[in-house]
Amino acid sequence: TRHLLGIKDLNANDIQLIFETAQTFKDVLNRPIKKVPSLRDITIANIFFENSTRTRLSFELAEKRLSADTINFAASSSSVSKGETLIDTVNNILAMKVDMVVLRHPYPGAGVFLKNHIGAQIINAGDGAHEHPTQALLDAFSIIERLGEIKGKKIAIIGDILHSRVALSNILCLKKLGAEVMVCGPTTLIPKYIKSLGVKVEHNLLNALNWCDVANMLRIQLERQDISYFPSLREYSMLYGLNKQILDSLKKEIIIMHPGPINRGVEITSDVADSKHSIILDQVENGVAVRMAVLYLLAAQRG
Ligand code: CP
Repeated sequence: TRHLLGIKDLNANDIQLIFETAQTFKDVLNRPIKKVPSLRDITIANIFFENSTRTRLSFELAEKRLSADTINFAASSSSVSKGETLIDTVNNILAMKVDMVVLRHPYPGAGVFLKNHIGAQIINAGDGAHEHPTQALLDAFSIIERLGEIKGKKIAIIGDILHSRVALSNILCLKKLGAEVMVCGPTTLIPKYIKSLGVKVEHNLLNALNWCDVANMLRIQLERQDISYFPSLREYSMLYGLNKQILDSLKKEIIIMHPGPINRGVEITSDVADSKHSIILDQVENGVAVRMAVLYLLAAQRG
């Protein structure tokens, strides 16, 4: 595939190749000289119509480690505020001879739409509540680093499944790699179609935690909900917030993940987020190597 729009377009072999390549780059990143010349003939535009800390910086660093030229576009400080459209914005950037676009956009399918209008390769860095493929790849890579493999492992994705692109991409990726996947949250935040993806559904946090090897704690996506949603943040943290007391009461040790940004004290308390069970910062570290692998492999597909 020329683009990376979603995990739905990858098979297990594609994902395995990305992980092998990412491991090579992770080894490079642990050397004194962290840079390789692989993409020195490539220019990449990071186009973000939604806020980001991890994804934007991680892509930019991955591009720089691969020696690509990079430009960064944030909609909030651009001429989008003067009414310029997505296609016009991207075409103006492409006129500056850009080969790849890393796109974050609030609307599901923005990358698919853009693919039909521009010649550059597109990497989806999050499209609304749809997909966030590189997040799922770095999450799965981080699980393998800890547990050796994904196949047969039990992964619980806990929280706001309905509004989460991380949930959908993780479910697709983990299922392709042979994991058992459970989603857990209030009925109002779990979409009806989710069972068709072959996942278990659980509404009780303790049951989910006692079932799983890995718990991926998701953030309530306040920016994608109106203010009258149920449960409220306070109710949510009482029913679904993970704290040290709950973690210590479990029958076995589990691994705690979170894609960030964390709402400390809502879905997870600081004593859990910062504990030895947490691999949250490993996920961020691995994000650079995984994104290097995606960029490198896509660059090889240029026509
Ligand atoms: N995990 C993630 O996508 O974080 P950002 O929104 O900060 O990029």
